[in-house]
Amino acid sequence: MEPQRQNVKMMPLSLESYHISEEYGFLLPNPLKELPDHYRPWMEIANRLPQLIETHQLRAHVNKMPLLNCQILKGYREQRLAHLVLSCISMGYVWQEGEMQPEKVLPRNLAIPFVEVSRNLGLPPILVHSDLVLTNWTKRDPYGPLEIGNLEIIIAFPGGDSLRGFILVTALVEKAAVPGIKALVQGVNAISQPSQDTLLQALQQLRLSIQDITRTLGHMHDYVDPDIFYAVIRIFLSGWKDNPAMPVGLIYEGVSKEPLKYSGGSAAQSTVLHAFDEFLGIHHSKESADFLYRMRDYMPPSHKAFIEEIRATPSLRNHVLSSGHGRLLTAYNQCLEALAELRSYHITVVTKYLITAAAKAKSGKLNHLPGPPQALEDRGTGGTAVMSFLKNVRDQTLASILHASG
Ligand code: HEM
Repeated sequence: MEPQRQNVKMMPLSLESYHISEEYGFLLPNPLKELPDHYRPWMEIANRLPQLIETHQLRAHVNKMPLLNCQILKGYREQRLAHLVLSCISMGYVWQEGEMQPEKVLPRNLAIPFVEVSRNLGLPPILVHSDLVLTNWTKRDPYGPLEIGNLEIIIAFPGGDSLRGFILVTALVEKAAVPGIKALVQGVNAISQPSQDTLLQALQQLRLSIQDITRTLGHMHDYVDPDIFYAVIRIFLSGWKDNPAMPVGLIYEGVSKEPLKYSGGSAAQSTVLHAFDEFLGIHHSKESADFLYRMRDYMPPSHKAFIEEIRATPSLRNHVLSSGHGRLLTAYNQCLEALAELRSYHITVVTKYLITAAAKAKSGKLNHLPGPPQALEDRGTGGTAVMSFLKNVRDQTLASILHASG
């Protein structure tokens, strides 16, 4: 269901109130790499995940893991690392033997702490974008820049350099969005002041940031091999909802006798484009919106609250239209055009990494790699029918262009 926009007088919007960093945006600032010693059994497995999966030993190691108490986890950053660690172990456990032999029961020594940490954080017990990307980066030189040459991931799956590139390019996309998120906040506050000049500047800045996101997304081509992405990495992001390989979901032993269904990790769970859509007043078709709204439940609750707060502020579109301010209208439309271009570019990336790679895998040209996932062939890891969904979302962005009245 689409939440309603309310026209009530608002306090100024601020990033701080929603745990969004001035410097890093939705990325967790300086994520931890280690948990307290009590959790060494988890860390020892997580740090060897690619090797344990590739040698088919992960499930045996997890089955021997002690059931650990989550109470010793101190503070937010330890909980976020624990969620990253337990979610990666869980994905590896379920998909170690590929999509033909998924493990349908998560053992209690993994399921119980994973669900407890998830409840504490308000996240679902599955790998989400906020684990794989927002919590999974570290600087090699702490004083060096946030650039790919100075970054490393903390927890890995099989996929080597391509996995590293996929995660870090996505993290850099989040970083490229920071000026846009700040401009958005400036824009929201400028509407209520009201200050047309500030709003105009904010919209111009937002457009630049969206263009920078598109440029940054282009680095996928430099760092991620499509065959490796398709045949090796993708399965570990797959969930157990809308996935024919796991039709009834996953049993979390010691938590629920009934299987539970959760979507896999996807950048559709990034808060960035949700926030831009709300600010720009883009309304997606019911089917697309239903999926996108569901993805908000896979975000840290404070980030979801940020999107809802933007939605509750007075409408930018109405403001632009009623202002009769030509430059404001142009700047607004340029944001929509830049966002539609970003979405078109994303479609070309998805075509290369999923559609073309799937065709290649089907024709048997990837014999050196494990069997490609077939159940999710034309579906995203989030479980959508990819192309029609992405085109629909892009087209709705363009359809929101405003025309000057009179
Ligand atoms: C190899 C790279 C990528 C692939 C193969 C890919 C694939 C997909 C797929 C299949 C979907 C449909 C939803 C689902 O079922 O998961 C999707 C949606 C989405 N992806 Fe990506 N993606 C990639 C990189 C990125 C990056 C780096 C971002 C930026 C944060 C991003 C942002 C989004 C967004 C926001 C959506 C929701 C649709 C929209 O709002 O336009 N993707 N992606």
